[in-house]
Amino acid sequence: MTSTFSPSEQVVRHATTRRLLMCDPEHYDVTYSINHWMDPSDPVDRDRAREQWSRLREVYGELGHQVEVMPGTLGLPDMVFAANAAVVREGRVLVANFAYRERQPESAEFLRWFERSGYGRSAIAREINEGEGDVLTVGRYLLASVGSRTTLAAHDELRAYFGVPVIPLELTDPRFYHLDTALGVLDESTVAYYPGAFTAAGVTIIEQLFPGAIRASEEDACGFGLNVMSDGLNVVVSHRATNLMEQLRARGFNPIGLDMSELIKSGGSVKCCTLELH
Ligand code: ARG
Repeated sequence: MTSTFSPSEQVVRHATTRRLLMCDPEHYDVTYSINHWMDPSDPVDRDRAREQWSRLREVYGELGHQVEVMPGTLGLPDMVFAANAAVVREGRVLVANFAYRERQPESAEFLRWFERSGYGRSAIAREINEGEGDVLTVGRYLLASVGSRTTLAAHDELRAYFGVPVIPLELTDPRFYHLDTALGVLDESTVAYYPGAFTAAGVTIIEQLFPGAIRASEEDACGFGLNVMSDGLNVVVSHRATNLMEQLRARGFNPIGLDMSELIKSGGSVKCCTLELH
């Protein structure tokens, strides 16, 4: 379904429909700070946040994706970031084990949802791992970060649980605290990423795995431009990443820019609100 990048040829992209989980933003807020972007003294406009989240959900519907929505829980303001809930692959669910005390109670909520929805075997991770925020599926393998939210020990657990190779990428910049803030998977052979968020070894791995990877500017990365949901053709992205949208267009993708400003106040954007039920 995917195309290989070759600078000399016009690449034809194909969309595939996806099954996605989102969590209702009813209880979304910024009441504590566990990443660089969160400032509890800068109030969230919850109505606006809901409008932005609803628009995202609507766009997924327009693109033909199937969206499941679970309710949020009072007192868990970050649950809206469903990407962090789990890693889901072929009927197996490994529910996140959150690094910060503030988010730890979310694991039981997400586990309950997965048990009820019959996605197959589900368990809460033993090791610290924040789901698809830090562990991205690319075809037969997983790209996983090593950083403040996911440990190297978690990689062994992921490998054993899913029986697939796990490729470690170390994050180095506190602004990019989750892998999905610094790297977006566009299709099985294409990613966009911000090199400044990774070690030199990480950049080498990314360039070897994805020749022709799109390099985003610091400005676009800070506008949450890499926090995307791509179906292989359509790339839903924060509209702040204007240069990246141009780069995507030049490579045959169809960027769809959305205003995610209220969610960005918590350090999250498009991808953070979306868990792919692979
Ligand atoms: N406030 C949340 C946190 O710090 C934001 C999570 C964003 N999610 C993501 N997949 N990057 O945990």
